[in-house]
Amino acid sequence: MQPRDLGARLVHVDVLRPETTDRSVRADWSAYATAYDLLSEHNPAYQALLHEFEAFLATIETPQSIYDIGGGTGNYTEIAARACPDSEIRLIEPDPHMIEAAQAKLAAHRNIIYDNRALEAVGASSTADLIVCVHALYAMPEQEQRLKDMRRLLSPGGWLYLVDLGRYMNVADWRSYLFSSLRKEQGLAGALRVFWQGREIATQNKAIYEAQKTGVYWTHSEAEIVSLVTETGFEVIKHKPVYRGYSDLLVCRATA
Ligand SMILES: C[S@@+](CC[C@H](N)C(=O)[O-])C[C@H]1O[C@@H](n2cnc3c(N)ncnc32)[C@H](O)[C@@H]1O
Repeated sequence: MQPRDLGARLVHVDVLRPETTDRSVRADWSAYATAYDLLSEHNPAYQALLHEFEAFLATIETPQSIYDIGGGTGNYTEIAARACPDSEIRLIEPDPHMIEAAQAKLAAHRNIIYDNRALEAVGASSTADLIVCVHALYAMPEQEQRLKDMRRLLSPGGWLYLVDLGRYMNVADWRSYLFSSLRKEQGLAGALRVFWQGREIATQNKAIYEAQKTGVYWTHSEAEIVSLVTETGFEVIKHKPVYRGYSDLLVCRATA
């Protein structure tokens, strides 16, 4: 089959952001976008998640249509675009700076559609065989409804690959973890340089923690997310804690 050339299509340019009234207690994803890939490159826990997703893709029949919801700067979209060059991949991301960063990085791939909307604004005009949603559900409004949206957007038997931050973001713990792995990799001067360049990461991690404490962002145990996902129309095939115990990974199938 010939790869489908979708060009660099941006299907919806409105900036639809989830409720903006209490933004002071939310992460500022636009500010985060500039430093986000520094985190991805230098955070071994983040790299482990990317490898796990790539390994998962190799175990399933090639999905023809893949949605990366809350796809940020496109790191999961990139893996999917490389592993499934004949498939259509839709990066759904409401933040304009995040999606711009993804478009710039993934310009060489012709099988990606960029969709600048929040999940709750996406109608069911087409369905996916695989939905990837990593570290985004906790930041959305009304998780039960959002999981129902994902169920609606999946074809029966389709896969949901879900990773979600469930526990409180301990900023000091992450800072010392990242600093010690950077120091091993780059020495003290290199670690200090990357920390300075990526100082926005610490600011946004603090904002995430504040939003978790005030209940604006969802926190959950592994059992709680498994139960909600099951209630919203999925069979959970596999689940385990990941990302140093802060997050949960659930591999699920949409029930008929
Ligand atoms: C921590 S980033 C994760 C990005 C990417 N999935 C990754 O793991 O590298 C969370 C992303 O969720 C997006 N997001 C927040 N609310 C959303 C919503 N209601 N619908 C879709 N995406 C949303 C943010 O804009 C942000 O880019």
